[in-house]
Amino acid sequence: MSAMTINGQSKPLPDDQDALLLEVIRDQLALTGTKLACGSGVCGACTVLLDGTPVISCLLPAQAAAGKTLTTVEGIGGEKLHPIQKAFMAHDALQCGFCTPGFIVEAAAFHDRRRATKGTAAPSRQEIAAALCGHLCRCGAYENIFHAVAEACAGRFDADDVTSPRLEAHDKVTGRARYTVDIRHEGQLEGVILRSAAAHAQIARLDLSLARALPGVAAAISLLADDSIVRYVGAPIAAVAAKDRRTALAAVAAIRFDSESRPAVIGLDSARRADAPVVFVKATRKFAGNVSEGGSSPASWKGNVRGPSAAFSHKGKRAKAWLATARARRDPLLVEETFRVATQSHACLEPHAAVARFDGDHLTVHASTQAVHEVMEKLRKRYKLAPNEVRVIADHVGGGFGSKGSLGVETIAAIELARAANAPVRVAFNREEELSVTGYRPAAEIKAGLLPSAQGNLKALSLTAQADTGAATNSIIAGLARLIYPAEAKELVDFDVISNLPPGSPFRGPGGPPMAFALEQAVDEAALRLKVDPISLRKRWDPDPNRQRLYRWAESLDVWRNRKEAAAQNGRYRRGVGVAAGFWLYLWQPGSSIELAVIGGRLVAKTAVQDIGTGTRSVIANTVAKAFDLEPQEIEVHIGDSHLPEGPGSGGSRVTASIVPPTLAAVAKLKAAIEKSATRRPLAGSNAPWRDLIAASSDIVVSAERPKDNRPALGIASPLKQAGLMGMIFSWMLRTFSGIVVGAGVPSSVQVMEVEVDTWLGHARVLNAYTGLSVGKLAAPVLAHSQAVGSVIQGIGYALYEARETDPLTGQVLSSNMEDYRIPGIADMPHCEVHFDEAGFDHVPGGSVGIGEVATIPTSPAIANAIRNAIGVRPTEIPIRADRIVAALKERTAA
Ligand code: FES
Ligand code: FES
Repeated sequence: MSAMTINGQSKPLPDDQDALLLEVIRDQLALTGTKLACGSGVCGACTVLLDGTPVISCLLPAQAAAGKTLTTVEGIGGEKLHPIQKAFMAHDALQCGFCTPGFIVEAAAFHDRRRATKGTAAPSRQEIAAALCGHLCRCGAYENIFHAVAEACAGRFDADDVTSPRLEAHDKVTGRARYTVDIRHEGQLEGVILRSAAAHAQIARLDLSLARALPGVAAAISLLADDSIVRYVGAPIAAVAAKDRRTALAAVAAIRFDSESRPAVIGLDSARRADAPVVFVKATRKFAGNVSEGGSSPASWKGNVRGPSAAFSHKGKRAKAWLATARARRDPLLVEETFRVATQSHACLEPHAAVARFDGDHLTVHASTQAVHEVMEKLRKRYKLAPNEVRVIADHVGGGFGSKGSLGVETIAAIELARAANAPVRVAFNREEELSVTGYRPAAEIKAGLLPSAQGNLKALSLTAQADTGAATNSIIAGLARLIYPAEAKELVDFDVISNLPPGSPFRGPGGPPMAFALEQAVDEAALRLKVDPISLRKRWDPDPNRQRLYRWAESLDVWRNRKEAAAQNGRYRRGVGVAAGFWLYLWQPGSSIELAVIGGRLVAKTAVQDIGTGTRSVIANTVAKAFDLEPQEIEVHIGDSHLPEGPGSGGSRVTASIVPPTLAAVAKLKAAIEKSATRRPLAGSNAPWRDLIAASSDIVVSAERPKDNRPALGIASPLKQAGLMGMIFSWMLRTFSGIVVGAGVPSSVQVMEVEVDTWLGHARVLNAYTGLSVGKLAAPVLAHSQAVGSVIQGIGYALYEARETDPLTGQVLSSNMEDYRIPGIADMPHCEVHFDEAGFDHVPGGSVGIGEVATIPTSPAIANAIRNAIGVRPTEIPIRADRIVAALKERTAA
């Protein structure tokens, strides 16, 4: 038997020639800091050092390490930490942290090589990008990674001490942070799901006996819905649990069933044909998924088309008539265009995963979820368990972006397999499943019509959106345009086009980016026709006070003031600058609670919220620390456990606004209780009176629930209230069916992008990004900055690169690996400046609202407007690929 030395210890290697190094590291040696994300050598999450050289361990045979020295993230730096680890902590060069171990290992090797040859000369941005271009970060922590690596190489983190603005940063840079995929119980089995290869079929006679009979297989269960119909490639049919993944895969292959094929329709164009086979007949519509975060709005169905849903129209018929008249008389001010957006996959680096374990009647589920409390509630109801009989835990979550907001099939399969096998079971999706069946932002076709009046006011707006929702419904794209730019009349119509593709799901500001891509380009075009500055036009048309301040900031930027018109440029490379605005609803979750305590002289906060990378622990710690004049690191924060007091779900940008107000209320209670029970006052002149009081205090526990907001200042209201009766109804539905309140005020964003376009090859890249955000006071400023920058790079991916591709005949997702589904890498990161405007939410206790959704909504139209400014041709389809730019330029030349 051969051996390797790993982190200073000799360990045997398996004789199995097929064993991969990553499997040995994670499964046999339980060194779970090294992550599996893509499994195909693309993302770098599994990077380790082999004799000091970075290698990816997910493709390397374990035997390649025989006789060699291996270092994983756990072996980098030791107790004192490597300068790179300290720099990542100090610069907040991480968010969810799932990619972080890979970056740390690669960057540490780069640092050590460079220091040995170049001393403390700081590397350039290009050098760092070249060193780390084999790593992907879906949260978009690239900007801070640049800073961290440069500063570490310059020797600024050679000293011992470091503090981080992110409470759990130390665990994430050392590989100690445990994600669901890292959980391993004694006797744990591996679960694998059998998925449909057909896009539409009736399944009969599911026979699990051969699978169950295989050695090493502990359980096999059906996952078919009541009607036993599969409606997309990848729909779950059954699941097995076995001693390891290979055995489970063999068992899945042994499952037999009869299948009667049904005619399938794939994608928008075939599904909306009048003679298209129907995906959901009336009785089965309840099986359709939901692509929005709120409840479902009523709409009629005709075949596979659900809609029109036009509740947010305002004098819709009048808008339509005005646009028709303008079209007939060839009004030069009339803007009409059809925009198309592609399907965007969430592509979280930590896959959807669950580990279920029964202890008697008690069920414990570790889940990669955005909602521990909500999932616990759903499980309690589904399996008729008492509240103390089910517990959902998510210590760390490797990204979600909306795709992990509800009870997923991975959790159901893990639970039912664990019950059948009488043993703990883990179900973790592979990358193909992750990029095929875990949801996506639907593609859409959006017809836009916009008519300014002769006086330059907004007279009529029309948006009609057809969303390619797969086996799901409830998209709202056009309807969102009711909440910005009041017009004399608006016709806003949404349709879901349902087909035999996997169901879409909520994705960061559902409906927002496609709506903005169409609307913000239409406004830009109107500014060109009216011959006015695009920011000036927005200032005229958009009364929202938060965005008015952001417009003033945007027009003061040098890059904006110095922008040239497209006609003024020539040569191969042309630069352009574009602007776009975005908004989201201010949402909060009633019932969100926190327990705050003095325990053993320390402050301890507990709530059942989870952290998907946004920094929830730090938001709570900062809020408590600030109130007691302490350092955030002095606060112990417990989250990610449904046994803690009810916390909000991480969706709709509602965490900060839900959890800061009860934290402040609990602080007030705890202060009073500490003072009341204090037996002595702090020493006169103490510069930390609360620290003294807390240290001397007996143990005290208080709790508080999210209070209502204060009365907002005049002119600040929920945009839904301003949207008339339907807005009120929608607010009521959100509260009643989703448990979410829409507050007053509008979280807003204005972005300015500078691009360079290669007019020969069609390549467009963002050089500089400026993102202005109005999201109230910042509970954790550094982390808010990180999230804002991450949102921009995710928006750049949406605009320029990302597109899920499917086979139009079979319904198979073709872009189901990270080579074919391209997300932005570190070299795509432009220089990015963030401007926070902290006014506008004084009525919210603490003054803070969420950032996640609003920060990504205007990015794609700002880039498209910049490209229009650079080359004089408007991109109408995303991703704005090189071939599309070349084709548009050729078409213009030919015209
Ligand atoms: S998991 Fe190995 S490169 Fe992505
Ligand atoms: S921090 Fe990089 S993937 Fe989340």
